[in-house]
Amino acid sequence: MNRGSARPVAAPGGGLAGARHVAIIMDGNGRWAKARHLPRVAGHRQGMEAVRRTIRAAGELGIEALTLYAFSSENWRRPADEISDLMGLLRLYLQREIDELDRNGVRLRLIGDYGKFAPDLVAQLEAACARTAGNTGLTVALALNYGGQDELVRVARQLAEAARAGSLDPADIDVDLFDECLDTAGLPPLDLMIRTSGESRLSNFLLWQAAYAELLFTDTLWPDFDRAALEGALADFGRRERRFGGR
Ligand code: IPE
Ligand code: IPE
Ligand code: MG
Repeated sequence: MNRGSARPVAAPGGGLAGARHVAIIMDGNGRWAKARHLPRVAGHRQGMEAVRRTIRAAGELGIEALTLYAFSSENWRRPADEISDLMGLLRLYLQREIDELDRNGVRLRLIGDYGKFAPDLVAQLEAACARTAGNTGLTVALALNYGGQDELVRVARQLAEAARAGSLDPADIDVDLFDECLDTAGLPPLDLMIRTSGESRLSNFLLWQAAYAELLFTDTLWPDFDRAALEGALADFGRRERRFGGR
């Protein structure tokens, strides 16, 4: 399949550069706070405001799917008080934002092994997804306890179990089947991966999905990210020539 030629020139709804699916590694909250002599949680709080701004802008710019790296499978290595601050902010975010998200037609979904979170938070997350499941606007995929390696291991285990049970012939395992087993199944192919805060690494985010994504690294710290930053990233994306291995 030649995905390149199947790609629309402009995203539906007038997206600046035709990116259908954008993913963001939202990094730099701690450094934003440190620069202001504030506790790290203040950076995470401002990061939550940046999430609000970015979701609103992404919807208005006609992006179809926005995948946000909110908590990695490696972030459990952080001190317990920071993890608890992050979980508290996630609860607060859902409480405060779900009405507006729903009103704006946002469809919320989750990627990652989020079932490891506290049961009340899991219930709150699933309720938010269920409530917005019928919406047809921007899809926002929150990556929670997500790791690309973990996701691939879970797919491999699922396929191996199906093969052992006799319901899958290993010869039928191909790229499309793998795609359908990923947490991101059904989302458009990943076009653009943005990482804020000046780090140039993927940190285990969307390893499979990033195969032909355009990568954009910006020095902007996540709490400072806004509509103009997203527009700038989309404009940069629009100037890139994608070849998907062709010529
Ligand atoms: C990103 O900001 C938020 C999460 C990883 C949850 P950081 O907390 O990693 O901020 P820095 O990288 O220390 O500045
Ligand atoms: C990546 O940021 C994870 C999220 C943004 C949720 P990190 O701050 O955890 O990544 P590293 O440790 O600098 O690679
Ligand atoms: Mg970081």
